[in-house]
Amino acid sequence: MISTHASASAKIILFGEHAVVYGQPAVAIPIQDVRTSAAISIDAAVADPVIEAKDLKIETTLSAASHPESIGHIIKTIQLIHDKIVKLPKSGWRLTIWSKIPIERGLGSSAATSIAIIRALTKAMMKVIAPRELINYSFELEKIHHGTPSGIDNTVISLEKPILFRKDREPSPIHPGSMFFIVGDTGISKKTGDVVAQVAAARNSNQEQFDRIFTQIGQIARDGALALKDGDAKKLGKLMDENQNLLQRIGVSSPELENLVNAATMRGALGAKLCGAGKGGCMVAVAKDGVTAENIAADLLKAGAVRSFTTKLK
Ligand code: MEV
Repeated sequence: MISTHASASAKIILFGEHAVVYGQPAVAIPIQDVRTSAAISIDAAVADPVIEAKDLKIETTLSAASHPESIGHIIKTIQLIHDKIVKLPKSGWRLTIWSKIPIERGLGSSAATSIAIIRALTKAMMKVIAPRELINYSFELEKIHHGTPSGIDNTVISLEKPILFRKDREPSPIHPGSMFFIVGDTGISKKTGDVVAQVAAARNSNQEQFDRIFTQIGQIARDGALALKDGDAKKLGKLMDENQNLLQRIGVSSPELENLVNAATMRGALGAKLCGAGKGGCMVAVAKDGVTAENIAADLLKAGAVRSFTTKLK
């Protein structure tokens, strides 16, 4: 084993959240400059591997009798690596994790955590892992964490490229034109699995209507992939607005998200929508240029966002 470190990006779903769980296409992009990091350090004095989650201010050991629930996902990731990818030494190393991705806000923090740890531990063990393997292993962990995920989060973060994604199919990379996005965080945490379960319950009592909406969202995602490729921010924005209307109709928006979507639109966004599971978490807007994007990010804070940032594709 060698000392090393690795990281994984956050993600934004531009089109198709929820509908993607029911087999429709969706579009996701990585946010390269917002990342979760994992460092492995070799330390001969360590009898039982030390796990440190810096942001959570937790330090424990791998074989401790019990672990805080908030790091359960980290422990399960290490177990999966040991059981299925590469046997890890029983002593002599520490894993330190820190992250700029807020937890449970629709930006892919759980998938980024698993992927950063898989990348760091396989690198430390000098074991090469192919992109497809990384997608498959991180998907297993997403299923433990979220119940019935589509696989979009772990796929876009494993590849760190914009993708058109469809469940159980190979993702198609999108080579995007230049685009400016703004993310606003409502500050409200929501568990993806819970919101996906609420949508499933609502669909049970109105399947025909929900499936019609999902089909419409799927078409928006296909059109959105083309607009992204063409760098057509105006078209992209219009499609984002349409997607947001349909997300409202399946009940995953919220007053706080609407407030930020409206604030972005008032300041000149070409379109805006919630991103991820919804009911809280983040929204994303698209702008015609970097200056407008910065102005929108500032206005989102004034409108009550707990954080906002801009990101440029290409
Ligand atoms: C979560 O980022 C996106 C959802 O569509 C769930 C999933 O695809 O697994 C809400």
